[in-house]
Amino acid sequence: MSDHIKIERQGAVQLIRMNRPEKKNALTRAMYAAMTAALVDSEADASIRANLFLGVPGAFSSGNDLQDFMAFAISGQMGNEVFDFIMALGQARKPLLAGVDGLAIGIGATLHFHCDLTFATPQSLFRTPFVDLGLVPEAASSLLGPRLMGPQQAFAFLAKGDGLSAEEAKAAGLVYRIVDAAQLEETALAAATEIAAKPPEAMQITRDLLRGPREAVAERMALEARHFAERLQSEEARAAMMNFLARKKG
Ligand code: COA
Repeated sequence: MSDHIKIERQGAVQLIRMNRPEKKNALTRAMYAAMTAALVDSEADASIRANLFLGVPGAFSSGNDLQDFMAFAISGQMGNEVFDFIMALGQARKPLLAGVDGLAIGIGATLHFHCDLTFATPQSLFRTPFVDLGLVPEAASSLLGPRLMGPQQAFAFLAKGDGLSAEEAKAAGLVYRIVDAAQLEETALAAATEIAAKPPEAMQITRDLLRGPREAVAERMALEARHFAERLQSEEARAAMMNFLARKKG
């Protein structure tokens, strides 16, 4: 078991920390699996009342590991880890919070459509380069993005690939509060602890009501995943990923 995902407890809050700083928290299959297990286990554990996603200084996550994507593209075998994590996000019933400093790319950005409160530092950058990579949006962002931001902002973010600063992400509804890096984790943890102290049944029902039916979200995740798996095999995607991987060698 790698320590690229660290699971900790602070009272009734479970901390899920992405911890692969040398790769800017690019997510491997093992990392997805560890985060899925933490989310699923927390649903069955009454002593956990909120989950808080954290990264490392400067990197919440640079998104899916592109080496892994390239391996999928070559083998044709996508594996279930990414999809299982995305589904676990969509099925989560307990409040999800996040503390973001720096890069929040790909799933590191779309994850926040499923968070109830995201805290971000002024240095944060949210970006989804899906189309540039020959891919399509995931995690039901193609459904939740237009709902949250309106169709034009969602197009700019999810199709054109415009980055959002912390201020812009807050204006777009993807971020709750902007916090200096030195206070980020304590602020996010304090909010999670406050939420975790409230009556859990009323909290879950309220969250369900606010988020609306899950069926449409799950259906969109499945539809996106079918396109995504096909796109990974495309010439467009292979060329874009080769470019990134070649850049490393050069
Ligand atoms: N997958 C695999 N490796 C990644 C990665 C990713 N998504 N993001 C960063 N890395 C690796 C880099 O290859 C580099 O590894 P190396 O030191 O062994 O060469 C290391 O992390 C540091 O990244 P680097 O590119 O040197 O840092 P940077 O600050 O110049 O740029 C990013 C950071 C995130 C902007 C840039 O790495 C990037 O664009 N990554 C790809 C993001 C992406 O497309 N994600 C997929 C979304 S679906």
